[in-house]
Amino acid sequence: MQLSLCTWAEVEAYLGRADGIIVPIGSTEQHGPNGLIGTDAICAEAVANGVGEETGAMVGPVMSIGMAQHHLAFPGSITLRPSTMIAFVSDYVFSLARHGFRRFFFINGHGGNIAPLSAAFSELYAAASLDASGSVPRLRCVSRNWFDGAEVGKLSREFYGDRLGSHATPSEVALTQFLHPAHIKKAEMPPVTPTRRRFTDALDLRALHPDGRIGSEPSLATPEHGRALYEAAVRECSAAWRSFVQEA
Ligand code: NI
Repeated sequence: MQLSLCTWAEVEAYLGRADGIIVPIGSTEQHGPNGLIGTDAICAEAVANGVGEETGAMVGPVMSIGMAQHHLAFPGSITLRPSTMIAFVSDYVFSLARHGFRRFFFINGHGGNIAPLSAAFSELYAAASLDASGSVPRLRCVSRNWFDGAEVGKLSREFYGDRLGSHATPSEVALTQFLHPAHIKKAEMPPVTPTRRRFTDALDLRALHPDGRIGSEPSLATPEHGRALYEAAVRECSAAWRSFVQEA
């Protein structure tokens, strides 16, 4: 069930039988020579909606802009500051908590979101911990990257070996190719160069990785790979969602 496609009465009825929600969270940032700017948001949203269809879970609207300051030297990239993202996550979650949602299962598509998301969860917990009156709702939040499961990892290694890399990966590009076949891009790219060190700010990332890839060969992506990765990610995230909502 997508929250955006429900009426308020349908949400109220859902809350009569469940208090968990899935929140897809992505980013809007460059993804190398053939990757779509929306890759991380597109992948997280599609996997989240797939889990919603599989399990009957409510799925909130995608947070399509994340913490991507390091990509800003490439046109089209948009970022939230870490502090803005923490505030955004907090307002999103507390809005839904006001209605009775208590368990929040984030499906994440972007590595740069991990640290601010974790900090946002600490803010949510701190709000309850610091409130001696007990009026702040006590919440449970987890985050899972769609690409972190064992089955997705195995497929990625089979398809791409050591050319998966860490950004603009062929696996995420393949997933968008499966989802948006009319927007498959072709681009020439030289063999990827080894990563020398961790980037810092946007200009540093562009200097280290001039075409936006980080250790990856996204030219290896195919829509058929994308379908297999999508199905595996939905299976794995569905299992993780089920155990999350059942845990005591
Ligand atoms: Ni990405």
